[in-house]
Amino acid sequence: MKPKAIVFDAYGTLFDVNSAAEKCKNKIGNKWESFADFWRTTQLEYTWLRSLMKKHKDFWQITEDSLDKSMKVFNIDNKLKNELLNLYKILSPYPEVKKVLKVLKEKEFKLAILSNGTPDLLRELVKSNNLNNLFDDLFSIEKVKIYKPDSKVYDIPIKKYKIRPEEIIFLSSNTWDVSGGGNYGYNSVWVNRNKAHFDNLDYLPKNEIGNLTQLLDIL
Ligand code: LAC
Repeated sequence: MKPKAIVFDAYGTLFDVNSAAEKCKNKIGNKWESFADFWRTTQLEYTWLRSLMKKHKDFWQITEDSLDKSMKVFNIDNKLKNELLNLYKILSPYPEVKKVLKVLKEKEFKLAILSNGTPDLLRELVKSNNLNNLFDDLFSIEKVKIYKPDSKVYDIPIKKYKIRPEEIIFLSSNTWDVSGGGNYGYNSVWVNRNKAHFDNLDYLPKNEIGNLTQLLDIL
């Protein structure tokens, strides 16, 4: 594969969406992981529902709205809310991320993020993790104000780089995002960190890898 650009999903692919709740696990207790999963699922459901309802709110507002519901469901003290939100702004990357991005940068690949996150959130995420010099572009769905997997989102890098969808390698650990990008025409690679099962959404990923280090083997 010789892609013209390598485009990464952000949340769950480069950055560990559970890391905010994990950093508060002493305060949340044993339920922290179920709570983190519920928060993430609710957050994603709100992106899809708002896109269908045509009632857009940006990802930061959706993250807060879904947190409010999740804290009620899991009976978590509201005093933790601001701490969890602040930690969500500086989510930790998965351990191999920085090293792999550096290798790709040295090999002069064009590297970008394509994410539901707002431009400010994406900038803060990469800056707080010292990854800001490694990306050519941080593409946000705020440009089109509809969430993944709408094809208008996957159009964004194509329009900017003036290339064909199949010239992009798109990596996501979110199965539905792999299907969304793949159905659009990208060469989608599934980062299957948790040995999960793929979706039945008319697309099978070109490659499946367990973490980003394995990307170096398929390029
Ligand atoms: C994103 C979500 C899908 O970063 O993880 O776009």
